[in-house]
Amino acid sequence: MAPRTTDWSLALAVGAAFATGLLSLVSGRPADWWVFALHGIIGLWLLPLVIWKLRRVKPRLLHPRAWDKRTWFALAATLLVLLALTTGILWVAGVEFVLAGYHLLNWHIVFGIVLVVATSAHMLARARPMRIREIRDRRTILRWGLVLVGAALTWNVQQVGQRVLGWRGAERRFTGSYERASYTGNAFPTVSWVADRPQPIAPDDWRLAITGAVAQPQTLTRADLLAWDDELDVILDCTGGFYSAQIWRGVLVGRLLEQAVPTDAARFVSFVSVTGYRWSLPLAEARSALLATHLGGEPVSHGHGAPARLVAPGRRGFEWVKWVVELRVLTAPDDGQLAAIYTSSLSSGQ
Ligand code: HEM
Repeated sequence: MAPRTTDWSLALAVGAAFATGLLSLVSGRPADWWVFALHGIIGLWLLPLVIWKLRRVKPRLLHPRAWDKRTWFALAATLLVLLALTTGILWVAGVEFVLAGYHLLNWHIVFGIVLVVATSAHMLARARPMRIREIRDRRTILRWGLVLVGAALTWNVQQVGQRVLGWRGAERRFTGSYERASYTGNAFPTVSWVADRPQPIAPDDWRLAITGAVAQPQTLTRADLLAWDDELDVILDCTGGFYSAQIWRGVLVGRLLEQAVPTDAARFVSFVSVTGYRWSLPLAEARSALLATHLGGEPVSHGHGAPARLVAPGRRGFEWVKWVVELRVLTAPDDGQLAAIYTSSLSSGQ
């Protein structure tokens, strides 16, 4: 392949791997499996592209005297792409490796993010415009397509091979997560987005406000919630790489909304935590979500979000808001929630 075509293919593959990686963070329903398949195929497609590129630049890399300042961006991008590929492939294969308290998927995400920064710096320093006639070349198109098909086949062979060989990787969910402590109540891992660590909330002092686009705003106590015993047996799938099935008990959000009577303009419900963290669901989906007070027959622990946390089937764990104090009914999407999930860590929740 012509040098510029290889370089621009690499840029496309890194960008697409990063985009599908980010999309995977909000994909948790079985119908979303293709996001993970596409991510894996694009990642595997990168491998031959990197090998092509390394073969081309090898003479220069082997002579440090030919290096200039821009070479360092190139070296950083090369190292990071190899680290991102290795950690991704090993995680999928089921290898358990923890470094500084973080496992392979955590490191994979970090390397993926830094790789995009290093690749962008490398491109700013060195990229040359793409030549359309090079891409139109029939041999180039053929090679390009063959490598992509090869990556798709490799991905499929890898999935089937793991099952046949009985590797741990075959036990992971389509999201890449491995099972942890299902049906053990509060004993399953407590993980919070970034660093939310509020003080425990005294159940008797706790109030739940239902506000926003409703005809009858409400303020409820824990006793009001305990009047219901709706149950959901669902999987919490954490973007940190584990999943856990548990039986959650509480009240369906639809029942609470019925009391507050959403207006005709109501479209979303934002679940607001005592820390200020918030996430919203479309109104219909919110109605079938649960506000849980119990887990596996015992009261939800502080770490899991007591007095009440959101249980949102099919959503990733970080969307299951803990320590909920307000249901805010909205008439439009809440763009500010993406910022709130970072600033909430600065709050003690008091
Ligand atoms: C931009 C650079 C990235 C590259 C080159 C890359 C590449 C890969 C590769 C090669 C795999 C293994 C696929 C397989 O063998 O089936 C993988 C898996 C995975 N990656 Fe990435 N990745 C990148 C960024 C990200 C980011 C930013 C995220 C999340 C924010 C992410 C999330 C995942 C997940 C969840 C898996 C496991 C998927 C599964 O189990 O099938 N990746 N990645």
